[in-house]
Amino acid sequence: MDLLKLENKFLELFGKKYENRYFAPGRVNLIGEHTDYNGGNVFPCAIDRGTLILVSKREDNKSRLYSMNFEDKGIIEFNNDNLINELEDSWVNYVKGMFKFFIEKGYDITHGFDILVYGDIPNGAGLSSSASLEMVIGTMLKYEFNFNIDTVDIVKIGKLTENKFIGVNSGIMDQFAVAMGQKDKAILLDCNTLIYEMVPVVLKDEYIVIANTNKRRGLADSKYNERRSECEKALEELQTKLNIKSLGELNIEKFEENIDLIGSEIRQRRAKHAVYENQRTLKAKEALIKGKLDIFGKLMNESHISLRDDYEVTGHELDSLVEAAWEFEGTVGSRMTGAGFGGCTVSIVKKNMTDKFIEEVGKKYTEKTGLVADFYIASIGDGARKL
Ligand code: GLA
Repeated sequence: MDLLKLENKFLELFGKKYENRYFAPGRVNLIGEHTDYNGGNVFPCAIDRGTLILVSKREDNKSRLYSMNFEDKGIIEFNNDNLINELEDSWVNYVKGMFKFFIEKGYDITHGFDILVYGDIPNGAGLSSSASLEMVIGTMLKYEFNFNIDTVDIVKIGKLTENKFIGVNSGIMDQFAVAMGQKDKAILLDCNTLIYEMVPVVLKDEYIVIANTNKRRGLADSKYNERRSECEKALEELQTKLNIKSLGELNIEKFEENIDLIGSEIRQRRAKHAVYENQRTLKAKEALIKGKLDIFGKLMNESHISLRDDYEVTGHELDSLVEAAWEFEGTVGSRMTGAGFGGCTVSIVKKNMTDKFIEEVGKKYTEKTGLVADFYIASIGDGARKL
């Protein structure tokens, strides 16, 4: 969408010109899925798509927001004195949550804003549209009020918003990737310690291709929280003998030696995924650094199989899309990305075969599911910022 159109819309809605613009990207996770809240490693990168906001301050305590993505909802308002989650405020609840926890952490929000939002990440598709909205608002608050706040603290406020305001028990990966991302780099993040490493993603002959199943899911109504509790229970069972704080501390040998401490077969599989996926993520990072993309691709495939069979968060649509990609000769690796249950896959595909990939994989997917997938070639971009 061109900027002029947004500028005019702002003027039309709020009767004045906007003052500042902010942007936060979405993210794609290359590998390390459902490991963040298990104290393991993740390997996401920020993408070039995201959430743009045009902002102008107000004199009073009120904020008024309008999204080009939810035009039917019209202008939604809230007041800094009344920051509670209300169903009818729909997407604006993410904004209210950010305001609330900034205030609770002692940052003095002395007035409201008029805000126009435009996003080009598909919502609820596993590319972190919600973390993108949270981080663009956090970045706005930082600059508009000159708050002396570290980016990682904005990340933590985003996670709090998700956990305590929206009610999804998510980990820290999404907000971290969205806020801290750097162009052409993936972030290896240890979610236990928050120690991270920026790893150059050098793909000479390949593209990262994101494919949307167009099967939507809401995190809040998915089995996300259930998986998280299953892993917590498995951890407690392991802790009866092992001195560990998270599943991420276990290597494969130690886990296999102690698996019988976990009292149900389902929980054994959940924990197995968390432990093995964490190790796969570390191996994948090494493979990428060494330029061994074939190994990276195999690890992506294994990740999907584990998410499908042990963690059970894929489903017919994601499996069909990934299987079609596996059958295509120019695919280096393919897996679901994000929380699962629908949403997107990420694949590494030979550049000169990408058009054919989109055509053939898209066709097979439609044959199997009756749905039409959207494809796009991802560029790795920078994190949240003032424009
Ligand atoms: C969602 C959550 C993240 C992470 C992924 C799965 O995106 O927000 O914290 O748990 O699912 O890896």
